[in-house]
Amino acid sequence: MKITPRSLLAALLLLTGLHAQAQQPARLELCVACHGPQGNSQNPQIPSLAGQPRIFVENQLVLIREGLRDIPTMKGVLDGLSDPDLIALAQYFAAQKPAPMPGAVDAARYQRGKELAAQSLCGSCHLPTYQGREQVPRLAGQQEAFLREVMLEYRDKPGPGRDTVMTNALRGFNDDQLDDMAHFLAHFGKQP
Ligand code: HEC
Ligand code: HEC
Repeated sequence: MKITPRSLLAALLLLTGLHAQAQQPARLELCVACHGPQGNSQNPQIPSLAGQPRIFVENQLVLIREGLRDIPTMKGVLDGLSDPDLIALAQYFAAQKPAPMPGAVDAARYQRGKELAAQSLCGSCHLPTYQGREQVPRLAGQQEAFLREVMLEYRDKPGPGRDTVMTNALRGFNDDQLDDMAHFLAHFGKQP
């Protein structure tokens, strides 16, 4: 092969591409063991991370590492990771494609949840597609049991690292209404 500037450049790009592929964020195997392949969770209690806004994931990782958001199952998992390590993990998960939530949709619950979320203007922060932005998380396609649990927590016993905007947003909702919203959001876009 004749070496031209163009072929050199192509070889260089190929090499750096391979390098970037080989270099995965620190502890990724550990994360996906719980949060699922590419961050698409297969466990109802564990949130998906695929397609979450990068800033949301970054913020949560700092809060979790510093012990401000208390997640007993994640104790020690982030110990010793640097800020750039957390940024690399957040970038990885933000770039993954969220998988649609499997399971049947209950038309009545979906409709009730949809109306409650619309009345409460949840989409003003989470976006009308519930895909989140910046520090506001994606809710569309998230695990239903996790959504339910995390909303109960915000309403009844928000921890120190949790944002009070959510405690305010969920004040006055009863458990059944939170259930319906969790069902709607988990299955968002699968309108029966
Ligand atoms: C042993 C299982 C386990 C491991 C390992 C684990 N997590 Fe988690 N993670 C959880 C659980 C459970 C929650 C939800 C806790 C709750 O109910 O609020 C969570 C929550 C999170 C959240 C908050 C998500 C949200 O939507 O609120 C982020 C971000 C996160 N984990 C990132 C990671 C990363 C990155 C790694 C790897 C370095 C990791 N986790 C490893 C179990 C795990
Ligand atoms: C004023 C803006 C705002 C409004 C309105 C709002 N949210 Fe949120 N929501 C947030 C922010 C910011 C977070 C991240 C909070 C944190 O860091 O603790 C969040 C977090 C959440 C979470 C946790 C998701 C996760 O992965 O950890 C759920 C569930 C949620 N919101 C549901 C709702 C629902 C349902 C409504 C309407 C009733 C609503 N939100 C209205 C800003 C808002």
